[in-house]
Amino acid sequence: MTATSRSGTGTRRRVTTMRAAMAERFGGPEVVVVRDVPVPEPAADEVLVRVRASTVSIADHRMRAADLPRGLGFLRVVALGAFRPRKPILGMEAAGEVVAVGRDAAGFAPGDRVMVMRGSRMGCHAQFVTARAEGAVVRIPDAMSFEDAAALAFGGYTAISFLHQVALGPGVDVLVNGGSGAVGSSAIQLAAHAGARVTAVTSGRNADLVRSLGADRVIDYEREDFAAGDETWDVVVECVGNAPFTRVERVLKPGGTLLLVIADGPAMLREKGQSRRSGRRVTHEGTLFGKPVVERLVELAAAGAVRPVIDRTFELDDIVAAHRYVDTGRKRGAVVLRLP
Ligand SMILES: NC(=O)c1ccc[n+]([C@@H]2O[C@H](COP(=O)([O-])OP(=O)(O)OC[C@H]3O[C@@H](n4cnc5c(N)ncnc54)[C@H](OP(=O)(O)O)[C@@H]3O)[C@@H](O)[C@H]2O)c1
Repeated sequence: MTATSRSGTGTRRRVTTMRAAMAERFGGPEVVVVRDVPVPEPAADEVLVRVRASTVSIADHRMRAADLPRGLGFLRVVALGAFRPRKPILGMEAAGEVVAVGRDAAGFAPGDRVMVMRGSRMGCHAQFVTARAEGAVVRIPDAMSFEDAAALAFGGYTAISFLHQVALGPGVDVLVNGGSGAVGSSAIQLAAHAGARVTAVTSGRNADLVRSLGADRVIDYEREDFAAGDETWDVVVECVGNAPFTRVERVLKPGGTLLLVIADGPAMLREKGQSRRSGRRVTHEGTLFGKPVVERLVELAAAGAVRPVIDRTFELDDIVAAHRYVDTGRKRGAVVLRLP
């Protein structure tokens, strides 16, 4: 099966190559180059998607730079590759149109507008990508732009996967550390939509943004240490990498939960013991994956409960600049990549 496109005369022609951004070795943003590569062939249970938008996320930075949290370096060869990225085409998520459907891929037709989350399979910084029809691919409403769908996917998927394991509702106090990032901006909205009282930790420049997403209270980390005061929370969503249980324990209510969206090796090793000993729950894992997550995300977005936060938009040819911006660690929400 091959992708097709319309030529100037209106006839269909086979497309066998595509443009893709590839990290051919580990290193800084400049290791990413745009190349012509073969269009992937969908398996019988897959669809082929013409990608219109993706994002450059912190995950792309981590893969490209081999930047793993402390104590997880031993995973590098297995997770990333020994001498160069094993998955050189980065990009965890895509929004685009279905152009071909495998014979066992039920539920999709050419022309469907979809959101795809490939996660660690990567490959979305390219003009075409495959998705297992039963996996994390879902149709998006006509009113949702490809850029918005792509911008929602990474942070929204992660936030839903983690927050699924806690009961949110009126009277529940939630703190989101790193409220202005891709994951934090989604977590604030999901918690607020569920009726929880949300505190967002961010720098002063992002105070208005997190308030607009539903935060009731904002803590500027440059002026105040959320873990040093008298206030306590039922749920702490850690999206920065500076709030392990040892720092957060005293502000986590008895029976509360620390969701370590980002954790280093030592924190992962200690979480079971800390949970047993403290009467609080510590976990670095999400609990919901695949299609149910993207379905829920699109449902929530269509209902207006979650909106994308787009910081900047880059064209594929400007991929190096996009990586450079993500590397600052200061992006707000998503950095969108448009595919030609
Ligand atoms: N476990 C998983 O499955 C999973 C999935 C996705 C992501 N992650 C991890 O989760 C983390 C967050 O991902 P992300 O995509 O949300 O990152 P991101 O979008 O790159 O986060 C950038 C944001 O972090 C904020 N920030 C930086 N230092 C801060 C601090 N000290 N306190 C509060 N906010 C701070 C910045 O705001 P200011 O400019 O205001 O400082 C910026 O808006 C990453 O480490 C990522 O690797 C894990």
